[in-house]
Amino acid sequence: MHRHSLLTFLLIPFIPTAEAQNTTVDAKIKSTFYSGSGCSPGTVSASLLRNSALVLAFDNMYAQIGPNVPAAMKNRNCVVNVNITRPGFEMRVNGEVGGEVDGTWVQGNMGLEGGVNAVFKTVYDFVGATDSQSSTSNTTIKGPRTGPFLEKLENWTEIRNGIVSPCGGGMLRINDQMRLTSTNSTISGSIGPSEDTVTFVQEVGLSWKAC
Ligand SMILES: *[C@@H]1O[C@H](CO)[C@@H](O)[C@H](O)[C@H]1NC(C)=O
Ligand SMILES: *[C@@H]1O[C@H](CO)[C@@H](O)[C@H](O)[C@H]1NC(C)=O
Ligand SMILES: *[C@@H]1O[C@H](CO)[C@@H](O)[C@H](O)[C@H]1NC(C)=O
Ligand SMILES: *[C@@H]1O[C@H](CO)[C@@H](O)[C@H](O)[C@H]1NC(C)=O
Ligand SMILES: *[C@@H]1O[C@H](CO)[C@@H](O)[C@H](O)[C@H]1NC(C)=O
Repeated sequence: MHRHSLLTFLLIPFIPTAEAQNTTVDAKIKSTFYSGSGCSPGTVSASLLRNSALVLAFDNMYAQIGPNVPAAMKNRNCVVNVNITRPGFEMRVNGEVGGEVDGTWVQGNMGLEGGVNAVFKTVYDFVGATDSQSSTSNTTIKGPRTGPFLEKLENWTEIRNGIVSPCGGGMLRINDQMRLTSTNSTISGSIGPSEDTVTFVQEVGLSWKAC
């Protein structure tokens, strides 16, 4: 698919790791469900890029701020639950070491006037996990800035190590919040899907260890 061929360019070069890799078992998505103001039914697709990343494509994660724009448009959120399984492995999500994809990247298009900021807040955790690990980012992109973007999310708690699933995988919960702020009500901004893929894409690095 067009969208996937574009995504391969997000990947940093493959670095072999010392970890055992059982290539006979691939990770699988067993179920996906989601809700929020940025993801009405039928607008999110979740897929795995080899075993190295979870790729979420959002059709209507789009926020806007400015004169005559309803105030509710400046915030968009989506909670996505993805059940990812891989027998015999535990999954490390959003780690910065040992994986092929480093951390989390977002890709889309924006038009921010000076004085408008876009803030992404993202929280990852495992539903029903006995420990309460979570990983939270709070990244600000400052206007003026216009056009396509590919940004690595920053300011993570648990930045280097990410969070780890139970053995065999688990239900990863991704709580995304996209917010536009402005210094006054006369200026404008928008952020959302790329013009070429017509989706806002979030790529979350995964790595694996036998368990
Ligand atoms: C890989 O996993 C499969 C299925 O669980 C198992 O049969 C096989 O022995 C494993 N191979 C290695 C090298 O661990
Ligand atoms: C609104 O903010 C912009 C950017 O900081 C500035 O250029 C403009 O003068 C401000 N307008 C008012 C009415 O304060
Ligand atoms: C996120 O960052 C913005 C801008 O740096 C800040 O205003 C906000 O309080 C932060 N939010 C959280 C939850 O840390
Ligand atoms: C990370 O957080 C610091 C302190 O709150 C802030 O100054 C910086 O702009 C943030 N970086 C990004 C990319 O949001
Ligand atoms: C994920 O899917 C597997 C296989 O269908 C199921 O056994 C498991 O209970 C699910 N996990 C969660 C947390 O729902």
